[in-house]
Amino acid sequence: MKKIGIFYGSSTGTTEAVAHKLAKMLDVAEADVHDIASVAPSAFAGYEVLVLGTSTWGVGDLQDDWYDFVDGAGVLDLSGKTMALFGCGDETMSDSFCSAVGKLYERFKPTGVKMIGAFNADGYSFSHSGALIDGVYVGLLLDEVNHPELTDLRMRQWVSEIKPLM
Ligand SMILES: Cc1cc2nc3c(=O)[nH]c(=O)nc-3n(C[C@H](O)[C@H](O)[C@H](O)COP(=O)(O)O)c2cc1C
Repeated sequence: MKKIGIFYGSSTGTTEAVAHKLAKMLDVAEADVHDIASVAPSAFAGYEVLVLGTSTWGVGDLQDDWYDFVDGAGVLDLSGKTMALFGCGDETMSDSFCSAVGKLYERFKPTGVKMIGAFNADGYSFSHSGALIDGVYVGLLLDEVNHPELTDLRMRQWVSEIKPLM
C-alpha cells in the first residue's frame, strides 16, 4: 500500500472527527492526519495518496482554511499522486449541499492527480450540490447535522471502494 496522508479543514470539529475515523479505517497513522490550518501545502510531497476533507460554509464555499492552502498548493507538482475527497455538510442547505467538495475537485483535478473516490449512494435529499459532477458524487458526502446515523455506513462503503485503489 502507498503512503497515505489525510488533510482536512474544519471549523467546528466535524470534518476533523471524520478525518480521524477515516485514518483508523485506512490504517493511516495519526501523524499523517493533518489540519490544514497548521501545515504547509508542501507536506503533500510526503505522500503518494492524498485524502482531502472540507466542510462547506457560506453558500457552497470551502472551509476557510482551504483558501490559503489551495493558493499555496498551486505551485506543487501533483502529477502521479492519487487523490480522494470527502466532506461534511447540511442537506437543509439544499442548494449547496457539500459543494465545497466539488470546489476541491475542480481545483485539483486539472493538476494531473488520479482522482478516486467517486461515491455511488442513495439516501441524500437536496436540490443542488456542487459535488455532483456529471451525475456522480466526486467524493464521500456526509451530513452529520441531519443524518449522523448514516455516516458509519457511508464511510465503510466508501473505504471499501477506495482501499483497493490505493
Ligand atoms: C453559516 C453556515 C453556513 C453553512 N453553509 C453550508 C452549505 O452551503 N452547504 C452545506 O452542505 N453545509 C453548510 N453548512 C453546514 C456545515 O458544513 C456543517 O455544519 C459541517 O458539519 C461543519 O463541519 P466542520 O465543523 O468540520 O466545519 C453551513 C453551516 C453554517 C453554520
